[in-house]
Amino acid sequence: MFDIWNRRYTGSKYKLSSWISELIAENCNGSSFCDIFAGTGIVSYTMLDKMKKIYINDFLYSNEVIYKAFFDAAPYDKKLISEYCSRFQSLSTDNIDENYISINFGGKFFSHTDAKLIGYIREVIESDKDKLSEKEFAILLASLLYSADKSANTVGHYDAYIKGHDIPDTFRFDLINPYKTKKSQIAISREDSNEFARKLKCDIVYIDPPYNSRQYSRFYHVLENITCWRKPELHGVALKPDPENMSDYCRNKAKIVFKELIDSLDCKYIVVSYNNTYESKSSSSKNKMTLEDIEAALSARGEVQRFETSHIFFNAGKTDFNDHKELIFIVKVK
Ligand SMILES: C[S@@+](CC[C@H](N)C(=O)[O-])C[C@H]1O[C@@H](n2cnc3c(N)ncnc32)[C@H](O)[C@@H]1O
Repeated sequence: MFDIWNRRYTGSKYKLSSWISELIAENCNGSSFCDIFAGTGIVSYTMLDKMKKIYINDFLYSNEVIYKAFFDAAPYDKKLISEYCSRFQSLSTDNIDENYISINFGGKFFSHTDAKLIGYIREVIESDKDKLSEKEFAILLASLLYSADKSANTVGHYDAYIKGHDIPDTFRFDLINPYKTKKSQIAISREDSNEFARKLKCDIVYIDPPYNSRQYSRFYHVLENITCWRKPELHGVALKPDPENMSDYCRNKAKIVFKELIDSLDCKYIVVSYNNTYESKSSSSKNKMTLEDIEAALSARGEVQRFETSHIFFNAGKTDFNDHKELIFIVKVK
């Protein structure tokens, strides 16, 4: 069974999550928490037994379905889910026709056999949608995303696949492990962060945006494609669809939208994650915002406390790790 952290995700705070949640416990007071760029959702996970209300937001479709699967308090039929699981685990590709995933991604992002299975299972989940509750649909689809990601022929994201070798068949459908949450504890949304922030009222807001030009919707396009299942035409070597959900945080206006976000928050505490990749030699991992930009925006809202630790993080081998630091800023809003 997959736990929420059993996936590869650029910028995941999994390894830092206890540090972050301890800092929040020591320095903030409140019963509602918002994870506005939630990514894997691991930081929200650490808040489950601490907060009465948790808002989880990210603009990716695949992340939204994953949050519903793990966190939504709706009941679901465990027996039905395990029947689907057994059926998906015992499939043989002998009788499975070519499908959207095998035609586009077979021999590239997945082995041809694995791609056939993934495409077939996704089709079954879609055609059975009317027989499944929203929670059951989310559990099956999130389980497929985690299983597919585990067998993907990549370094952890889908900007490229690994070339020049035979891809082994490793796909095995396995289930995610949904968490027990309280009714009305969790609010899941898929909105642009700044639009969402304007409507939010919450005690503690955690902010972990992308800080460089790498667009998450392009990095995770295969998972987005499997989730939406619109079967779009794909382009280029990495077989990406037309762009969608392109973030201003990955563009030169990042510091403007960041300040707008901070200014619009109606909350008691603002908690911000930042890492100092701006020293990086690779231009795509150069930060779009400096420490000074962040500190200036935050100090307009109250006194800023700064905490730091070192952390080995995602890169393509081009970054000098020696001075890499992860920072947390906590602002008690005036
Ligand atoms: C650094 S990651 C967050 C990682 C997360 N804290 C974790 O531990 O997994 C940034 C996230 O922000 C999302 N994102 C980027 N721009 C966004 C926007 N304008 N609105 C909403 N989400 C956005 C991306 O999809 C990505 O998941």
